[in-house]
Amino acid sequence: MTSTGTGRRRDLQDLLDLSRKPGLSYLRKEAAPKAPRRKSRDTYPARFAAMAAFTPRRILAFAYEYLRNRFGPRHRFEFYEDEDSDKGVYQLQGDDQEIRIALCGDWGTGTDEAYYVGQRILDSSPHYTIHLGDVYYVGDAAEVSQNFLGEPNPDNDFQPCCWPCGTNGAFALLGNHEMYARGEAYFEDMLPALGLKNGGGQKASYFCLQNKFWRIIGLDTGYNSVGWPMLEILFPADCALPAKVIDWLKDEVRLNQADERGIILLSHHQYYSKYDCCYRKPALQLSQLITGPVLWFWGHEHRLVIYEEFGIGDGLRAHGRCIGHGGMPVEYPLPRPQLKDCPVEFIDDRLYFNDENLRLGLNGFARLTLRGKSLAIEYVDLTGYAVFREDWEVENGVLKRVWKGP
Ligand SMILES: [Fe+2]
Repeated sequence: MTSTGTGRRRDLQDLLDLSRKPGLSYLRKEAAPKAPRRKSRDTYPARFAAMAAFTPRRILAFAYEYLRNRFGPRHRFEFYEDEDSDKGVYQLQGDDQEIRIALCGDWGTGTDEAYYVGQRILDSSPHYTIHLGDVYYVGDAAEVSQNFLGEPNPDNDFQPCCWPCGTNGAFALLGNHEMYARGEAYFEDMLPALGLKNGGGQKASYFCLQNKFWRIIGLDTGYNSVGWPMLEILFPADCALPAKVIDWLKDEVRLNQADERGIILLSHHQYYSKYDCCYRKPALQLSQLITGPVLWFWGHEHRLVIYEEFGIGDGLRAHGRCIGHGGMPVEYPLPRPQLKDCPVEFIDDRLYFNDENLRLGLNGFARLTLRGKSLAIEYVDLTGYAVFREDWEVENGVLKRVWKGP
């Protein structure tokens, strides 16, 4: 899966201020232009972007799509069957005693910036690539095809964007935006195109990549991220890990047994944030299985933030790494802090000079390199520059950071 050419992909301004509410995501989808606009210093004000949906044809399409998906059943939750030889636990393979893994969140926008980030990922020659979820606007079949699988869409003039696969495989977590279309395209179209090279596809929305020193565990916080219309106001979705995932963590990953490997968690939703809401439920569930602290990479919030070790209440202690800056506009300046005691160590607050005259931050991804018990992490932007780096080691199951720097 490779894309060629640039310059005729979707603009960042078409995704600016995109709401996390399903209805407003459907409205923005209908409002989006069908062809690239002429670049200009006069950008269309984002707060009026959804107004373009208010033509009779577009509003009818919006109503049909929204009602069909919001009141239809979710896709069946896929899990590893007892008779499957593949239980979603895979041995990491590399070369020259080195394993390279690229992590990227909220990448599925179809923008030039997503394309550039994809190219920088390929420049790293990763053995594995992992998308932390969210294909926009609503992760339906047409958007997954164009913004993730690199297939042209005959209904618009935008060039497609293709997820960069690793030489040994590629995986994707489930985000809330894929669930706005009931997860149909995620399970039916994305997963069969992913997984280990020649492995027959990614079987479920959770998995573990492991070796003698490390376990990298992909979790599903997306399936339970969307509630029922209206009722979700009273009973908001808590992104709980499905029971099948908890059983798998016990029975196959054996998280509740003594182990000396370092644990790296991956999820779409953030456990905590200084600037956004917190999703505590998965961390509470995991605290029954892991003593921690762990390294935990998440997306959903569209910026790069490195946190010091932190936890909420009885939840797991974690070194949180927010990397949801893969392809969405990185909004600038920072919002007012919501969780004031959440300790930020580093935040990428550089400005990105773009051809849309938007005041935004830089997109990028995280590059992990495993060498025995050592782990090097580089946070790379769309130009290829590593804005923050850190080295970790694991000893008797305990993570220790041995170096950090720009
Ligand atoms: Fe999200």
